[in-house]
Amino acid sequence: MVAYDARNTNRWLNMDEIVASRLTRHRVPPVVAVPGILEDVSRGLFSTPRYMPPKYFYDERGSLLFDAICETPEYYPTRVEEALLRACAPDVIEQVRPRHIVEFGSGTARKTRHLFDACGRSGSAAAYWPFDVCETMLRDSGMRLVQEYDWLQVNALVGDYSGGLAGLPAREGRTLYLFLGGTIGNFTHEEAVAFLSEVRGLMRDGDALLLGADRIKDEDVLHMAYNDAAGVTAAFNLNLLNVLNREVDADFETGNFRHQAVFNGAASRIEMYLVSQCRQSVSIGALDRRLQLEAGERILTEISRKFSPEGLETLIARAGLAVRRHYAPDDGWYSLLLAGVGDAPVT
Ligand code: SAH
Ligand code: TRP
Repeated sequence: MVAYDARNTNRWLNMDEIVASRLTRHRVPPVVAVPGILEDVSRGLFSTPRYMPPKYFYDERGSLLFDAICETPEYYPTRVEEALLRACAPDVIEQVRPRHIVEFGSGTARKTRHLFDACGRSGSAAAYWPFDVCETMLRDSGMRLVQEYDWLQVNALVGDYSGGLAGLPAREGRTLYLFLGGTIGNFTHEEAVAFLSEVRGLMRDGDALLLGADRIKDEDVLHMAYNDAAGVTAAFNLNLLNVLNREVDADFETGNFRHQAVFNGAASRIEMYLVSQCRQSVSIGALDRRLQLEAGERILTEISRKFSPEGLETLIARAGLAVRRHYAPDDGWYSLLLAGVGDAPVT
């Protein structure tokens, strides 16, 4: 492939420039006020029970650790979702024939390749719009994708989807929205309905949403997935304290905390905590406040809800969407739902 530099036709572009010309970066401005980390810390850490929003996990180190979680033998959701996606990608692409693929919380976008492969095989090119808070992840995955797929245009969207979706750049033509990895389970029911309703608000006739969600299963399997033997999930959870030390000038000692993940059967969710191992006082420099913690006191850092098939279909309906396909493996470990606007029979 050769190309001329649009600004200077006397010069050939090198390979890196040609590749980079298919990768753009946009900042998505928040349309609703997003609390800053100081507000989240003063609201969450000083309340009962104590909690922090999960988005702060994903600094550069946190994103690498999350990636490592996906490689642990215990964390089945990545592998199960990937196999399901590989199997259903041709059907999804044939159903939707998208011009654009917009992915919320894209991470490394490794699994999304199955959809690009299906686009390639069906001869339909689509532009990919990965949307994530972690900019280094977007850059690295974007570079890899434009190198691997010589037809793919990648428009990386840097932003926080809790700031609303109305700031997404305008697009012409059909869009397939993706929300994978079971990240929908990290929202409460109300947050999930609100988020999916917002996605519904972006969708026009012919657009679709592919939603990945983890299912209720044997409690031991769930427990192990969030308590891997190598301690990667523990390191990921504890890394939140490093983020706080850096971002709000705190002095958390990670050695004084322990990772805990438990399945709350009544609420059908994994709850992840950082447990204070002793009575301690932590300085939050940027707030000029101290956090007093008793031995055994916990900070809730993440919930991961596990769904029944009916619960998922109800959630989709509550957001004003219609289920078009419900893909699941025989063991029912995971669900991928393809939903559209308007009435459609469940198939
Ligand atoms: N979809 C990937 C990654 C899931 S992890 C997979 O299935 O493996 C969740 C991803 O969502 C991370 O990449 C994280 O950086 C991103 N994320 C978390 N909160 C976010 C927010 N509020 N706005 C945008 N991205 C967010
Ligand atoms: N969306 C993932 C899930 O709920 C996020 C996740 C997996 C996670 N392991 C974690 C978040 C450990 C925090 C800590 O399965």
